[in-house]
Amino acid sequence: MQSITALLTQKIANAFLACGYDKEYGTVVFSKTAFCQFQCNGALAAAKRHKRNPLDIAHEVNATVGQQAFFTVDVVSPGFINLNLADDFLANYCSQMLQLDQLGFEPSLNPLTIIIDYGGPNIAKPLHVGHLRSAIIGQAIKNTARFMGHTVVGDVHLGDWGLQMGMVMAMFIKSDEHLASLINQNRTEALAAYPIAIQDLETIYPQASALAKQDNLFLAECRWITAGLQKGNETYTALWRNIVRTSVADLKKNYAKLNVDFEEWKGESDSQPVIPSMVDDLRQRGYAYLSEGALVVDVALPTDTSPIPPLILSKSDGASLYSTTDLATIIQRKNQHDPDYILYVVDKRQDTHFQQVFRCADKVGLTQPDLRLEFIAFGTMNGKDGKPFKTRDGGVMKLSLLIDLIVAESQSRLQTVSTSTISAGSEQAAIAQVVGISALKFGDLINARESDYMFDIDKFTAFEGKTGPYLLYSAVRIKSILAKAVAKQIPLSEAIQVNSAHERALLLKITELYDVIHSTFEKRMPNVLAEYVYALANLYNSFYHESHVLNEVDQAIQRSLVSIMSLSLKCIETCVGLLGISVPDRM
Ligand code: ARG
Repeated sequence: MQSITALLTQKIANAFLACGYDKEYGTVVFSKTAFCQFQCNGALAAAKRHKRNPLDIAHEVNATVGQQAFFTVDVVSPGFINLNLADDFLANYCSQMLQLDQLGFEPSLNPLTIIIDYGGPNIAKPLHVGHLRSAIIGQAIKNTARFMGHTVVGDVHLGDWGLQMGMVMAMFIKSDEHLASLINQNRTEALAAYPIAIQDLETIYPQASALAKQDNLFLAECRWITAGLQKGNETYTALWRNIVRTSVADLKKNYAKLNVDFEEWKGESDSQPVIPSMVDDLRQRGYAYLSEGALVVDVALPTDTSPIPPLILSKSDGASLYSTTDLATIIQRKNQHDPDYILYVVDKRQDTHFQQVFRCADKVGLTQPDLRLEFIAFGTMNGKDGKPFKTRDGGVMKLSLLIDLIVAESQSRLQTVSTSTISAGSEQAAIAQVVGISALKFGDLINARESDYMFDIDKFTAFEGKTGPYLLYSAVRIKSILAKAVAKQIPLSEAIQVNSAHERALLLKITELYDVIHSTFEKRMPNVLAEYVYALANLYNSFYHESHVLNEVDQAIQRSLVSIMSLSLKCIETCVGLLGISVPDRM
């Protein structure tokens, strides 16, 4: 179905046009005030441009719109055009939403191909809270884009290349004699099957990085192994594959807990085959040149207010860098998917890196004719001290631990609110898991993407306020009432009526869904959707407070009330689903 603002805009825009003004002045939006349901402020802008009185223009437009069946117009000084829907129309529209697939939301007529690069974990380094935001935000954007009918590919883009891998391997070899001997004897098969415990992987990188800082010989060895790997040495490659496989299996488990999934499990290493020809090409076309032994591309622009350093394609030892693999990955993605967009959901502190990569891609013609690259930056999750979230002893907080923490807190809170007869056991544990994840994810998504926010477990797991548990609780309560309605043989999907102000406000909010989904995606801002579903749940709860659905004697009214509930539930479930949060059946 068309959104209501689109329907109203059509009418008002045509009236502006008929009066000799630009159609654009006729844009109608949901009202931000309590005076009316919708508003058009175009008369004010038109008045400026045409040097006329805005009130006159508004009246003129109103007269042209004339009497309408589905809405009324009020012209208000100094030239606002206020609109209200006829209750019948609202009721009808909502009845239709309830019947239709995707609540009547129509997929895009011009679907785009979009690659979302998110997650971005690094092999052999534990998944930490910095990667949490990317996973959560990226997944929400992906779900929304897909709901809109776009073709979306999520790529986890593993950090599986570069010096970090050489460091991990060097440390392994140093600390495990048996492994070292397999390396010396080039036993590739044995290396590929060598049992590696994820716990060992987690401790090895910090050890390696500490040692490399004090021991130059060790650092040289790390570099040497990295270079060997990058040149395709089979022995190192066998061990490397094993490490990647072990690490990825663990990552998949963590992402599954978060309701995060990826279509592609590629990494920096996958771009390796493209790099030599890319580098040659950029050299030949004169974009890349040698500077202090490194191969670089200038990306500064005369308009820059702060200096942007050149992008480094390769260092003097020939090793490729983060920018090199990112650039080469663009070529591969183009070849494989021919995308309209690549969205990179990454920490805002990588701003300069992406500026360099994007400018370079533009300069050398990679974005021609119409590939758009976007940096979807996000802020930091801080601890209560206002600094990036850490463990109590100041270390990097592992994501799995953070999840355990919030699930445990949710479990104890659940016991205080739970009204149903869920006994301790596997069901209760499963519910606590879902509620805990909702707390974590909603606590993140409710913040404007680029803002930093504070991880506050008490606030996130509360059953009141803008939280995941509040939303789930609201939805679960609707489910339980609907189950009672079913038991009383009241149909769940009948004609909706508008009989009260609470119903009107709730239904109006529900009709806002289409616009909210569009703007969430346009702005790449899941918090728009998060705010919306919170407001919706609030309106639902006020409505519910006022209505006595199961005791209602008038059958038509009762059926309408039940239908409003089931529409509300669908709407809440759709929104939280897009945010990557699932609703349990009871809690
Ligand atoms: N692995 C990187 C990190 O941990 C993030 C990767 C982001 N994506 C990209 N295409 N650069 O910082």
